[in-house]
Amino acid sequence: MPTVTSLINLKGGVGKTTLTLALAHFLAIEHHRKVLVIDLDPQTNATVCLIPEDTWKARDETGRTLYQLFLDQVKGVRRFDADEAIVRNVSNVGGGVPGLDLLPSSLQLIKIQDRLTQVTDFDSYQRGPIFALRESLAEFLPYYDHVLIDCPPSLGIVTLNGLAISDSYLIPVVPDILSVLGIPPILDRVAHFAGAIRRNIRALGIVISKMRSTTILHNEMTRRLREDFIERRFPLVFDTIVPESTRIAEAANVMVPINTLQQKYGAGGPYEELSALTREFLTHVTR
Ligand SMILES: Nc1ncnc2c1ncn2[C@@H]1O[C@H](COP(=O)(O)OP(=O)(O)OP(=O)(O)O)[C@@H](O)[C@H]1O
Ligand SMILES: [Mg+2]
Repeated sequence: MPTVTSLINLKGGVGKTTLTLALAHFLAIEHHRKVLVIDLDPQTNATVCLIPEDTWKARDETGRTLYQLFLDQVKGVRRFDADEAIVRNVSNVGGGVPGLDLLPSSLQLIKIQDRLTQVTDFDSYQRGPIFALRESLAEFLPYYDHVLIDCPPSLGIVTLNGLAISDSYLIPVVPDILSVLGIPPILDRVAHFAGAIRRNIRALGIVISKMRSTTILHNEMTRRLREDFIERRFPLVFDTIVPESTRIAEAANVMVPINTLQQKYGAGGPYEELSALTREFLTHVTR
């Protein structure tokens, strides 16, 4: 079975999608792993960074995105077919990366999420479709080495579907005051959910992202995060720090054909850090 990891933070813009995409690329290309990216965010950022927008739209209109899975739950039907919805060998690197697959999201998840929320009991999780994703993917997961789930900045029913198949989660944070304050609520809520569904969901660690090493604040908050880990208040903080870099932001463009990860992320700088982050991820996730 694959390792299944959710990238999660209730705070927006901290690098969840960027790190999901980077890990997916490096695992598939440098480690020859079979990787499935599941995009649970209605913003569809991971989706449109891996496949062209017109491909995604055509799929969305024909029931081949996660919208169909959750619509089925509301309508009490079974139209969603994971085999058809998974897009194989995605990305702009080398015209598509063998072994890098995507389960695409949909903007329409917003409206369906509201309807699903009304029927969900968020205390005991006895009501509401918590296991829809798990059931639809059961047959396909064993094919992969790693599943990475890009979560929206919320812990609604769609995110919980991702956690319900996860054995670990990773918390990307920008080392500033509000991001760090946001960590304990995530730890609490994931632990509560894991207890309720009787699943061990391990906090794999905190990844510091968008680091500006010239600022006092970022250095100070990084020091405090590591201290909190040593004193066991927080999970492990990854050694590798992902810097703020225009090259990383530019890598989101799927429409530029390129051949290597060095070209995508910028040789020497961010490429090295993301490659190191992936090696570190592997040591922790397969522990
Ligand atoms: N290391 C980085 N250097 C520079 N820009 C970055 C970096 N990481 C992310 N960004 C940019 O910051 C913005 C937010 O990043 P991203 O979309 O990955 O965050 P997110 O946590 O997924 O956000 P959301 O909560 O909205 O889903 C994006 O425009 C992205 O390109
Ligand atoms: Mg995102």
